[in-house]
Parts: sequence; structure tokens; C-alpha cells
Amino acid sequence: MNQQLIQRAAQDILKSQKTIAFTGAGISVDSGIPDFRSAGGLWEKFNPEEYAHIDAFYSDPAKVWLMLKDMFTLVMTAKPNSAHIGLAELERMGLLSTVITQNVDGLHQAAGNTNVVEFHGSHRTLSCLKCNTTHDGTSLAIKDLPVRCPRCSSLLKPDVVFFGEPIPPRAQSYSFRESRSCSLVLVVGTSAVVYPAASIPMMAKESGATVIEINMEPTPLTGQVSDYLISGSAGEIIPAIVEEVKRRR
Ligand code: APR
Repeated sequence: MNQQLIQRAAQDILKSQKTIAFTGAGISVDSGIPDFRSAGGLWEKFNPEEYAHIDAFYSDPAKVWLMLKDMFTLVMTAKPNSAHIGLAELERMGLLSTVITQNVDGLHQAAGNTNVVEFHGSHRTLSCLKCNTTHDGTSLAIKDLPVRCPRCSSLLKPDVVFFGEPIPPRAQSYSFRESRSCSLVLVVGTSAVVYPAASIPMMAKESGATVIEINMEPTPLTGQVSDYLISGSAGEIIPAIVEEVKRRR
């Protein structure tokens, strides 16, 4: 079954005028970063209301930094996997113009994609809530929590979007423009339940694009918005699609 869908996806990519990818935490699972909502995911360990809402960060930063430190450790040591590398290869072949990611791990850029929109920000930098300086995450020794600004000792917050915070305006407007102007969107490793990010595949569909889902399991997009779902691990499916594209080129 998947072989036929992989061939269909390769055909769709080759005939597409403009292809974008929309990715979620599932694409980074093969890099050792657990996703959020699968069994064993981050939200099983940390209740998002208590740890991932901006109000929780302000009311108990030391507690929220316990989760952030966990994520930092995973993100700073993770390497791109074959799914990230496959998307970078599609870009190099001129067959993928943009990656819109909900992930904050920087793995698409590390794999070689050059046009990446971080819809939920990035773990790479942190901002001081008082003096507004920005600090590079890799240069910070995260031992005492909450992490404080090296300049003024106030609270440092990673430049990731917490629940209750707005999406960075330029990321949102550019992503919506890309969704409305593409002819194909590869939706990879997302449960498609968090808005406004989850509206991206729908915008593409409404603009006439083909929507291909690559995911371990069906999502609310499946059968409603997606033209088809290729079930399984992105780390296996994406390289298989790239190989099929090369064979047909
Ligand atoms: N290959 C493909 N899909 C996978 C894989 C894999 N190896 N592993 C897991 N998945 C799928 C899961 O089945 C699930 O449908 O990836 C999806 C991940 O869903 P979530 O954990 O909800 O992650 P995501 O969709 O990125 O969450 C969106 O919610 O918590 C917030 O800000 C956070 O950006 C995140 C947003």
C-alpha cells in the first residue's frame, strides 16, 4: 500500500509548481526528541497547562525551567534524521521551496534547508524579560534555575512561543502567504490540533493545493483536508519518496 502512495507522492512532487512542507514534532522523534501527544510524549511528563502556558512561566519560572531544561538538553544534542535530510535534498533539487515548522529544534536548518519558518519560535536564543537583550542558547550554562540574564540577572525566557502568546507576526504572515500560493504541501509529523498552525494545511487546500500527510496515525486532517495519508515513520517514508523522485527525474 505505502509503495503505491510513495510513487504517487513522487509524481505529485515532480508535477507541482511550488511545494512547501509543514512539519511537527513527529519529524524529530527519530532524532531522539519525543513528540508531545504520543504515548511517552512530553505532555505526559509535563502538564502543558502547568508548564507550557506563558502565565505559568511568569508565576513560577523555576518550575517551568525544569521542563525547559529537559527540552534544552534534548534539542542541543539532537542531530537531523533522514526525514530532515530528505527535505533538504528536495530543496537542493529545486523541488521544495519552504519549510514551515512548528518545531523549535533547528534541525531543518541543520539538515540544510535554507528557507525555514519557525512558526513557534526557536530554542536557539533566549530573551531577557527586563533588558530585552538576546542570548545564544548554546553559550549558556544551564545549571541554576530559573536561568538569569548574564547582563542584568533578570529572568531569561527561550524565544519559543508559549501557549497564550502570539505567533511571531512575520512568521505567521509569511507562512500564510506560502500556504495560499503553493500547489502541494507535505504535512509531516503533526497531530494538527494546535491553531493557528493547524490552519496552514487547510489554507493550502482552499487555495487548490494537494495535501499529502506523512504521519504515524490519522489526524483531524485525514479524509477531510488531506488528499492522502502515508502512514508510518517520516524517517523511512521521506527518503523513499526522494529516491522515487530521483528515479523518475
Ligand atoms: N514519523 C511520522 N509521524 C510521527 C512520528 C514519526 N517517526 N512519530 C510521531 N509521529 C506523529 C504522531 O503520531 C503525532 O500525530 O507526529 C505527531 C506529533 O503530534 P504532536 O506530538 O501533537 O506534535 P505537534 O503536532 O508538532 O504539536 C503542535 O503543540 O504542544 C504544542 O507547541 C507545541 O509545536 C507544538 C504543537
